[in-house]
Amino acid sequence: MIVMKNVYKKYPNGVVAANGINIEIDPGEFVYVVGPSGAGKSTFIKMMYREETSTSGEIVINGVNLANLRNSQVPFLRRQIGVVFQDFKLLPKLNVYENVAFALEVIEESPKTIRKKVNDVLALVGLAQKSRMFPDELSGGEQQRVSIARSIVNSPKVVIADEPTGNLDPDTSWEIMRIFEQINARGTTIVMATHNREIVNTRRHRVIVVEGGLITRDEYEGEYSYES
Ligand SMILES: Nc1ncnc2c1ncn2[C@@H]1O[C@H](COP(=O)(O)OP(=O)(O)OP(=O)(O)O)[C@@H](O)[C@H]1O
Ligand SMILES: [Mg+2]
Repeated sequence: MIVMKNVYKKYPNGVVAANGINIEIDPGEFVYVVGPSGAGKSTFIKMMYREETSTSGEIVINGVNLANLRNSQVPFLRRQIGVVFQDFKLLPKLNVYENVAFALEVIEESPKTIRKKVNDVLALVGLAQKSRMFPDELSGGEQQRVSIARSIVNSPKVVIADEPTGNLDPDTSWEIMRIFEQINARGTTIVMATHNREIVNTRRHRVIVVEGGLITRDEYEGEYSYES
């Protein structure tokens, strides 16, 4: 569960990127975050995994109030939230398997368990055959699939994606959407910022519209068409 109450964010340069955001996202929901460039979508998302802190207001993620979160507890929060970016952010010197295994950061798990978890998520995203390849040997869509595998290997309750199809061609974007929907079908909450109107209008889910640091619309599945 994700809750924001009167969340306000002013960057050091004076820009107000969140101007009183109120939202509740239930476990298992699939939510698109749309709105014009500069509206505050990425800021909204970054506050959920504490990449940015809010200036005021309350943010609760899976029962954890981020205002009370000490910096030393941030890694714990990050293990409960998978994050996927537009530009993949893979480690270039590590192969596919190692990029995913790295995200586990496990001390307590046996090598056997780690191997199983990594192989399971690579199979889920269709990359079992490419586990020894390096990021620069993969297509953009394959790189994004690695980054999705990495985001879910800790079995997080929530996966947050900021324009995950922004660098991909249309066919590849649909494949990536299918993977997110599969992950959602297993019960994981998905929050996805996107500019892709066709995806929003075709693969129907809840849509949150952010404009000027405010949520100006919040429509349940099927009630929203992304125009303009
Ligand atoms: N680190 C930062 N420091 C100062 N201002 C910032 C910072 N990050 C974002 N902003 C400003 O906050 C506002 C919201 O930015 P944000 O990145 O959240 O928008 P966005 O909706 O994600 O846009 P886009 O669709 O282009 O990705 C913009 O005016 C932006 O310039
Ligand atoms: Mg953005």
